[in-house]
Amino acid sequence: MPTLQQDDGERREPKGADKVAHLGFDHRSFVGPEALYDVFSAMQFNLLTTLGLREHHRLLDIGCGSLRGGRLFISYLAPGHYAGIEPEEWLVAEGVRLQLGTELLRMKSPELAHRDDFRLSALDRRFDFLLAQSIFSHATQSQIRTCLSEAKRVLEPEGLFAASFFEGEQDYRGERWALHASYTFDTLTKWAGEAGLHVMRIDWPHPDGQQWLVFRHALASPWTAPPTDALRLKQDLAFCRARLKRLEDSRYLRIGRALHRLLGTLRFRLDRLRRPPG
Ligand SMILES: C[S@@+](CC[C@H](N)C(=O)[O-])C[C@H]1O[C@@H](n2cnc3c(N)ncnc32)[C@H](O)[C@@H]1O
Repeated sequence: MPTLQQDDGERREPKGADKVAHLGFDHRSFVGPEALYDVFSAMQFNLLTTLGLREHHRLLDIGCGSLRGGRLFISYLAPGHYAGIEPEEWLVAEGVRLQLGTELLRMKSPELAHRDDFRLSALDRRFDFLLAQSIFSHATQSQIRTCLSEAKRVLEPEGLFAASFFEGEQDYRGERWALHASYTFDTLTKWAGEAGLHVMRIDWPHPDGQQWLVFRHALASPWTAPPTDALRLKQDLAFCRARLKRLEDSRYLRIGRALHRLLGTLRFRLDRLRRPPG
């Protein structure tokens, strides 16, 4: 970790923060819309705890940025159980300085590695959970494939890897980290398979409209995503639609409708007969 405090005790911005400050970015706006910083924190924390994350688990946050999610995970998990990889050293330092606090850093001893090669195995430990929030939505094909094959190496046999991505009709072909990179689900499924992983979509909201995926070892025991409110509502809606369709197709309803039309015609004719002539 970079030094956050000078020897004389004076607090200063970490090296690198000034490079983006003149572009109008700080540690919050650099990772996404500033006004939704808290929402992105809550979204990832709630997702992983819904997927079963508990304090004794070990988590690797790939591209942890300014610890938007990290600040919640670090205080929740047991000491030493959170690890983050992030190439922008200043971003993590600012996250510690302004979001997490050095006291929690000392208490929880997260492992914060600065690298950009997606070599997750370089940390030389295994994890129960991996997280890549808004990473595949910027990454190149080769970065995602490296990340998946490395995930295979560091994920515990029954572990889960949650990642968000922009689902598109075509795959991003650029060779640089992009503002918006989208991929098809089929392509990600193919790369997961090549890495020895199984992937499924899960129903979890994302303020950016990204789709959440969960990767697991291909041979892990069967697993079903825990039902979320959104999922439950969708299931209820599908159930109600099916019931409505059954009702609409029902013989009795068709007879009822025909009778209703017939009664309408009879009433109309009766009214005309009753009307005084002239
Ligand atoms: C949209 S931000 C998301 C940050 C974090 N996951 C969060 O939710 O706040 C993307 C992050 O990926 C980091 N990043 C860029 N290149 C990377 C690489 N090669 N490996 C890992 N992270 C990278 C960026 O510096 C940035 O912090």
